Amino acid sequence: MPAPNIDTIVSLAKRRGFVFPSSEVYGGLGSAWDYGPLGVELCNNVKQAWWRWLVYERDDIEGIDSSIILNRLVWKYSGHEATFNDWLIDCRKCKGRFRADKIADNKCPSCGASDWTEARPFNTMLQTKMGAVADDDPAALAYLRPETAQGIFINFLNVQTTMRRKLPFGIAQVGKSFRNEVTPGNFILRTREFEQMEMEYFVSPTADHWNLVDYWVEQYLEWFGSLGLNRDNLYLYEVPEDERAHYSKRTVDIMYRYFPEREKPWEELMGIAWRTDFDLSAHSKNKLDAEGKRINPDSTEDLSYFDEPTKQRFYPHVLEPAAGVNRTVLAIMMDAYSERTNDKGETRVILKLSPQLAPIKAAILPLAKNKAEIVGMAKAIKRSLQPVLRAVYDDTGGIGKLYARQDEIGTPFCITVDHQSLEDEAVTVRDRDTWEQERIKVSDLAEHLQKRLKPYPVPTPESI
Ligand code: GAP
Repeated sequence: MPAPNIDTIVSLAKRRGFVFPSSEVYGGLGSAWDYGPLGVELCNNVKQAWWRWLVYERDDIEGIDSSIILNRLVWKYSGHEATFNDWLIDCRKCKGRFRADKIADNKCPSCGASDWTEARPFNTMLQTKMGAVADDDPAALAYLRPETAQGIFINFLNVQTTMRRKLPFGIAQVGKSFRNEVTPGNFILRTREFEQMEMEYFVSPTADHWNLVDYWVEQYLEWFGSLGLNRDNLYLYEVPEDERAHYSKRTVDIMYRYFPEREKPWEELMGIAWRTDFDLSAHSKNKLDAEGKRINPDSTEDLSYFDEPTKQRFYPHVLEPAAGVNRTVLAIMMDAYSERTNDKGETRVILKLSPQLAPIKAAILPLAKNKAEIVGMAKAIKRSLQPVLRAVYDDTGGIGKLYARQDEIGTPFCITVDHQSLEDEAVTVRDRDTWEQERIKVSDLAEHLQKRLKPYPVPTPESI
């Protein structure tokens, strides 16, 4: 049973230290969220799982970490200055401002009126100023990146030449992006500051781009499966031309059932786009338009590729799987949410996270916190496990309460140290999902847990 709605996760996330409303001591900041002790672990585990899967386990992908603020010309030639717009309308009655494409039935979501201004474009790149300059100096204008992708494109040649790569190969990057969203909301689903995991996969112009989109869709469906997402809660959306970004010839969105309680339950989790050779051409000094004029007189580089076997020079085409860290985390929390009733008729929340993603892998709980030998043994076990997996020691409640707390945050194993442990050098290992318990020798504990913590099978890369 996944979470019945996002509000259930908002409440759990705040109660248990995953996500807090940002700047709360000053009344908050619209749709900004801070990740708490458990939230940062969950995000890090998602990002690490993604990086391991693409950059380490495949042989055809490199990683980079580019600047968040790039030369403004990057955004001019990428097309974002001209086209990265939302269409805005104002309600003449209540003065509310909304995205035109999100208005249902022509009615104002605040006051119900239907008296609108004309729609006008609003560029959603967040602006800033670089250096100690006058407020109105146009040369100081800079943007916080709205996608991590451009940092990859402008480094294409650097990576290709230093790493001696031949097509096809990919470049992955994970990091913050910013968009001045007109209507952010739904918790961490749509925010102005968020994190992306993007990969640009460079291929020949004659490759089978259409089917390569399907290839990456399949790879990601399997990857989401390896994180524990139920396939029934994912849905593929073939994005029609009028909804696609200016650079895309085909985009398939993987949607997640974020709103199970609504008639329209789906919202985008990630997109897989065929970006053609648009970006590498746009940033290149040699590319000419139909009239023979340079399309980019500002660039000092040519991001073309010389293909040795065919002796041809061309701009590679790009397949781009672009996922959001925050939306992945939200989907994972919703999918992992479950409730179970214990013998006393009390309902308990169990977050059935894939073990690799769980913020804490093992909680070491002493059965008698007043008994120095038991406490000492429990703390020693915690310290011995820590180098191999994230473990915590907790003695702040009775054992039933401690189990319930760990279930609620998704800890796969609770290790109980009791009086018997002092005699037989063994502990009780309790499984989060089945509540079954087994007795394990302390000397075998690390190996036992490591075996059981193995992630669900990760997709093996097929050659392209
Ligand atoms: N480089 C292509 C690109 O940025 P996108 O579909 O605009 O494509 C990719 O963004 C992913 O980034 C989305 O599928 C979503 O997961 C995440 N994302 C985009 N805007 C977001 C926002 N305002 N808040 C949270 N996540 C967002």
